Amino acid sequence: MTCLGMSCLGDDLSWDELSWDELSRNQEIDHVIGKEQLPELSDREKMPYMEATILETLRYMSMIPTILHKTTCDTNIAGCDLPKNTQVWMNLYGMHHDKRYFKHNPDSFDPSRFLDSDGHLVPHEERKAVLAFGAGRRVCMGEVLAKTRVFLLFTQLLQNFYFEQADPENPVLFDMRKFIAGPDTLIAPKFKIVAKPR
Ligand code: HEM
Repeated sequence: MTCLGMSCLGDDLSWDELSWDELSRNQEIDHVIGKEQLPELSDREKMPYMEATILETLRYMSMIPTILHKTTCDTNIAGCDLPKNTQVWMNLYGMHHDKRYFKHNPDSFDPSRFLDSDGHLVPHEERKAVLAFGAGRRVCMGEVLAKTRVFLLFTQLLQNFYFEQADPENPVLFDMRKFIAGPDTLIAPKFKIVAKPR
């Protein structure tokens, strides 16, 4: 997921923009953590750009595109009568790529959609449509663990490496609309990236 998140940066962006993008994130890492010590969870709140990038990766990728549930009794959702034992599919991918919730080109990868003009994370109200972990009673039990691990791994990799396309002449462009649906998750095509020590 982390590699894919980094590679997503190439989607809809030119290499110049990509380099700038990379640079600004590494600057945040250099500024908050430096090069000598490893990232800690207490760094997270001081790194809005990284947080926005992780949120955007979860939104853009929508690795688990749909969730299947079943009604346990006769019920009514948004005016629709649903008898007991009806399958209910939640379309997370559809929601994450819907202009009503993500106004600025939802099919492009753009962490800045979660940042205000001062570079702070937008309020929770404006991020709540990112439901990569589901919602309600059956929300993912590993959400906190997953988010903290992704933060530590992603930050540590970017602290120590520059990531580049293996073949800049023929860059791999990630368009989630072309991913293949596996049994539960979207499957990325195979790709190569180059990691250069910083
Ligand atoms: C980026 C990583 C992850 C994503 C995007 C993710 C996403 C999800 C989603 C969408 C669901 C279904 C929610 C629903 O049915 O409404 C789910 C359920 C679940 N996840 Fe995760 N998950 C992630 C990582 C993890 C990890 C690391 C763990 C455990 C350590 C975990 C444990 C679970 C469990 C136990 C459930 C079932 C919860 C229930 O049915 O009550 N997940 N996850």
